[in-house]
Amino acid sequence: MKTMKRREFLTAAALSGGALLSGKTATALSHRQPNLPRSAQAADARIEILLNEQIGQISPNIYSHFVEHLGGVVYDGIWVGEESKVPNVGGIRKELVEHMRRIKPGVIRWPGGCFADSYNWRDGIGPRAGRPRHTNFWRDDRARGNTAYQQLDSGPQKYEPNWFGTNEFMRFCKLSGAQPYFAANLRSLPAKDFYEWVEYCNAPAGQTTLSDIRAAAGEREPFNVEYWGIGNESWGCGGRFTPEEYSTEFRRFIAWAPRYKANLKFIGAGPNGGDINWTRGFFNSMVAKGANQLNSLYGWALHYYAGTTGSGKPFEYTTDEWYELLARSDRMESLITQHWGVMAETDPQHRVKLIVDEWGAWHAQDASLPAAYLFGYPGTLRDALVSGLTLDTFNRHADKVVMANVAQLINTIHSLFVAYEDKFVATPNFHVFEMYAAHQGGQAVRTLFSAPTLGFKRAAPNVPPGGFAQMTPQQRANLQAQTQNTTGTFWGLQGSASVNGKTLTLTVVNPHATEIRETEIAVRGAKVLSGQATTLTASDIHAHNSFEHPRALMPTNGTVQVQNGAVVYRFPAASVTRLQLTLA
Ligand code: AHR
Repeated sequence: MKTMKRREFLTAAALSGGALLSGKTATALSHRQPNLPRSAQAADARIEILLNEQIGQISPNIYSHFVEHLGGVVYDGIWVGEESKVPNVGGIRKELVEHMRRIKPGVIRWPGGCFADSYNWRDGIGPRAGRPRHTNFWRDDRARGNTAYQQLDSGPQKYEPNWFGTNEFMRFCKLSGAQPYFAANLRSLPAKDFYEWVEYCNAPAGQTTLSDIRAAAGEREPFNVEYWGIGNESWGCGGRFTPEEYSTEFRRFIAWAPRYKANLKFIGAGPNGGDINWTRGFFNSMVAKGANQLNSLYGWALHYYAGTTGSGKPFEYTTDEWYELLARSDRMESLITQHWGVMAETDPQHRVKLIVDEWGAWHAQDASLPAAYLFGYPGTLRDALVSGLTLDTFNRHADKVVMANVAQLINTIHSLFVAYEDKFVATPNFHVFEMYAAHQGGQAVRTLFSAPTLGFKRAAPNVPPGGFAQMTPQQRANLQAQTQNTTGTFWGLQGSASVNGKTLTLTVVNPHATEIRETEIAVRGAKVLSGQATTLTASDIHAHNSFEHPRALMPTNGTVQVQNGAVVYRFPAASVTRLQLTLA
């Protein structure tokens, strides 16, 4: 890993008029403020916050979640049952609910994922003892090299008991303070079943047989569920459709869905990462049927997983692999702008917004969780930086992105929590979500960041979940050959800012594994009176929490020095920071 030293950077920037940096950041650096304190003039980096350049309101739904009947997510991550020795509220893990309230969740997406297109909602209603048992979709996930379920003889992770159905999920949403987002089964159930699920949830009690079943289970008031996903990954596990075929199915599903009093918002199964042909094909096919067809599409849901590096083990990575994963996660920015541009070809007014309802890094399972807890691991500081930079990206595109759901909430992939029986721990991702909750509902404003870029030796691109360990020697050699001896570059500092009343929230990621970044922060359009800082960092880039050491990696608080309205802040190496600045 190689970076320019501070002196080299400032000299080179001065000689080149800032040409070392991209256009906007270079301009920012060249406008040094005469009233800044001496220390500020020597800073390595600079952030300008342009209060008058508003982007859009940050939807609280950008801070949303995803739970699927996969591994230990639902059983025992969320649902422990009323009779459990694990403290619970009506069967739902109490410690989880308490933590959920702290992060102000937007919506929770359920029941999948790929599982959704195998799920019959009727199996999860009525008295729990009489609910049917089925083999779980993920029982035999050979595609990802998973054999864990094959070793199981029994258990809710393998044979879905349907103890956690619509009413239990709604209970979890209410306890957490979140709105529900249901994913309808498009692959293996007809549209009629979807309409009837809407009816079960939203019809007034006393009016239909289904709403009476809901009322008999203690839920007289309609749930008024607004967000409905029409299938999931319909290009893959959700039916292997072409975009044109999916567009036909989508229209058929939503055509006469019953409304009741809910303002139904239909969400289309969008692309896998950079697959713009899926986006273009679907949108073209929709407008070919009539320009107004897009009026019924609330959001277009992109999925992007940044994968893993090297061995795939969550705690094992070199410094180069630290940067590699951050750089790969940062692809979210270009995915948003690419798909947004393609959507504009048929929807120039952007009636349809973007949703990213699955995102995160994805490492191999850790031995601290049972084998059946598929893809479960407590993430590290590296994953926390992935969270910070991704949430910053969504904030910077608040005009385009109306919802984002991290995958997933507990016990799998990029989770905020891990739990096993009576053990529970918040991962570094949780701390980032708690810090960033301050952005919710704020007005996103434009920021200009300038800092020395850093370079790293590239690992192979797109290492699949599970890492190299899951690949044949030939696949591994081919992948490595693609990028051998190439160098990657990455930004030196990035973040986002939002304003809520007199409070300016600035969140910043310093990706440098070892260097503090001293930074001038100039707020255009207001004077800063005071500030508070919260930072998540550690001297070891592999730091993480575990059942044995649940508080090994925790945020710390401090104050921000403000002199004559100017702020200089030293962002620690390998950190995610939130500054809350009070404006005059
Ligand atoms: O989050 C795990 C899986 O990843 C989801 O079920 C699917 O939608 C995606 O491929």
